[in-house]
Amino acid sequence: MSPEVADSRSELDLIDSFLQDVVAGLSLPQKALPPKYFYDAPGSKLFEKICRLPEYYLTRAELSLTRKNLSSIARFAGKGCDLLEYGSGESVKTRLLLRGVRPSAYVAVDISPAALLGAVRKLSRAFPKLSITGLAGDFSRPLKIPAFEGRRRRVVYFPGSTIGNLSPQEAQAFLRMTRGQVGPRGAMLVGVDLKKDATVLHAAYNDSRGVTAAFNLNLLARINRELGGDFDLRAWRHYAFYNAPLGRIEMHLVSLKKQVVDIALHRFTLAAGETIHTENSYKYSMEEFRALAALGGFAARKVWTDRKGLFALFGLEAA
Ligand SMILES: C[S@@+](CC[C@H](N)C(=O)[O-])C[C@H]1O[C@@H](n2cnc3c(N)ncnc32)[C@H](O)[C@@H]1O
Repeated sequence: MSPEVADSRSELDLIDSFLQDVVAGLSLPQKALPPKYFYDAPGSKLFEKICRLPEYYLTRAELSLTRKNLSSIARFAGKGCDLLEYGSGESVKTRLLLRGVRPSAYVAVDISPAALLGAVRKLSRAFPKLSITGLAGDFSRPLKIPAFEGRRRRVVYFPGSTIGNLSPQEAQAFLRMTRGQVGPRGAMLVGVDLKKDATVLHAAYNDSRGVTAAFNLNLLARINRELGGDFDLRAWRHYAFYNAPLGRIEMHLVSLKKQVVDIALHRFTLAAGETIHTENSYKYSMEEFRALAALGGFAARKVWTDRKGLFALFGLEAA
């Protein structure tokens, strides 16, 4: 770790929980792996490439709506607030927000120390007078945020449709936890991918260059690298589709043959055609997300969208 980025977790804790989660997930009737493990250093780099793909409209739509509405977003957040970002990654949209909002302090939280370190270094150069802290950690657990101890308004920024990777029940619990963190005068800015034509969604998660496939397969490569697994990557294929009744893109890895995989002292048998479910990305209508925010203890006061209505940034205030 560097002076700019703190990590409360020890390396041994991280390997233990990774192994436990992998073993638990591969022991389920529908095998599954938690998407947070996509983001090691190579996974974060692949995600940055996804954001630049022509089919992946999400990043461009959110960037354009943020640019277009920056002064209104800044008024909503309140100049001089304390700004915390969850799942900050490359922090590209953050640059715009920092320019508009001019917060008193900015804290970036991400599970990927590599992505966090790169982003915090670049931001510190671009905003030399701003207090910037990087905290490597899991946002689904309560984290102690140093900048949130003062009396300034607290605003949590959660862009990139990362909320879509949580089930609606998990999203509700996450919003409730964040509501507790920001307090009665606090707010959130949440980036939400909207429901749309399934062919547009399908293309976004099945890009022609195979970058999303490489991102998905990197999860198995990471298990091989860090946990001594013996996944044969040639025996797996990326598969993503829109599950309309559940309103979500599902990402899976399909086993191309009957195979046995060893990870540490654990052995798993997979049938030909069996899948490992690796990610969901929930899509919401405006009304659905307003209702979810209310269940999480927030009122949706503002919503900004891009010209084509693909993506929305919600301004939520503690209800
Ligand atoms: C969909 S990407 C969005 C990245 C960026 N905010 C954007 O808008 O492009 C999700 C980000 O959240 C981070 N992440 C995923 N699960 C996490 C968790 N449980 N705790 C902290 N960070 C997480 C990933 O490392 C990644 O940077």
